[in-house]
Amino acid sequence: MTAAADQSTTWRHPEGALIEIVPTAEALDARAADRVATAIGDGSAGTLALPTGSTPVGLYRLLSERVRSGALDMAGVVVFQLDEFRDLPGDHPQSFAVWLRQQILDAAGIGDDRFHLVPATAIDPDTSGQAFEILIDRGGGLDLAVLGLGDNGHVAFNEPGSAADSRTRLLTLSEETIVQTGRTWPSTSPVPREAVTMGIATLLEARSILLLVKGAAKSRIVRRTLVDPPTADVPGSFMRQAGERLTVILDQAAAADIQGELAAWERLG
Ligand code: GLP
Repeated sequence: MTAAADQSTTWRHPEGALIEIVPTAEALDARAADRVATAIGDGSAGTLALPTGSTPVGLYRLLSERVRSGALDMAGVVVFQLDEFRDLPGDHPQSFAVWLRQQILDAAGIGDDRFHLVPATAIDPDTSGQAFEILIDRGGGLDLAVLGLGDNGHVAFNEPGSAADSRTRLLTLSEETIVQTGRTWPSTSPVPREAVTMGIATLLEARSILLLVKGAAKSRIVRRTLVDPPTADVPGSFMRQAGERLTVILDQAAAADIQGELAAWERLG
């Protein structure tokens, strides 16, 4: 066992979720990679939803390495896209679809026949969103939804105001998310103001949910997500409804504002 693993702690959230606190962002990548690889390896995660953002980059690097070394076979895995900017086709350089292929899908050998795009370019995304959900159902449902947490508590692109029973749909991005996206968006075109995302209810139907959060800047929103009463103002807080099907992995910095709660939670390890 490594020194980093020694410093990790595991807790049972009062509503059932497993909360793992690891010392560093790198330890989080390793823990998340172990969980995802184990679930793929034992056949319990054949159908995945995978996030974009900075948080899962290390996870994807580790999974890609495992596939390359022959330690992990992802060839049978099917991926449903969590979210996408409105009107960006799946081959647009700024699309989440291209980013996901570059970060993990190509290395994992997951071709476009096993990568289902949210209907970001559909004329009527809400109707096409229903068809997307039917496709998920016909595929047997999501086994594992891996999620990051936006600075304002969004999951996928379910921005504040998203209802617990929301489904795959078109929505307007918050000003905060548009500003954040703008920091890395090329100046040649404006940041899209709308996106198509799986809904909160879509995510809650996954057989398991893995929420990953890193860094001190997220410590306050982690508290609002895990401790304060669930609210549409912080859509990530609805993930608690999954109870024991939810695992949250936090690095120490992201967990800073929930340290006071831990004494009241059951310690599992
Ligand atoms: C985007 C994505 C989310 C992701 C979030 C967090 O908004 N739509 O799925 O979880 O970014 O990004 P980061 O990991 O960079 O904080």
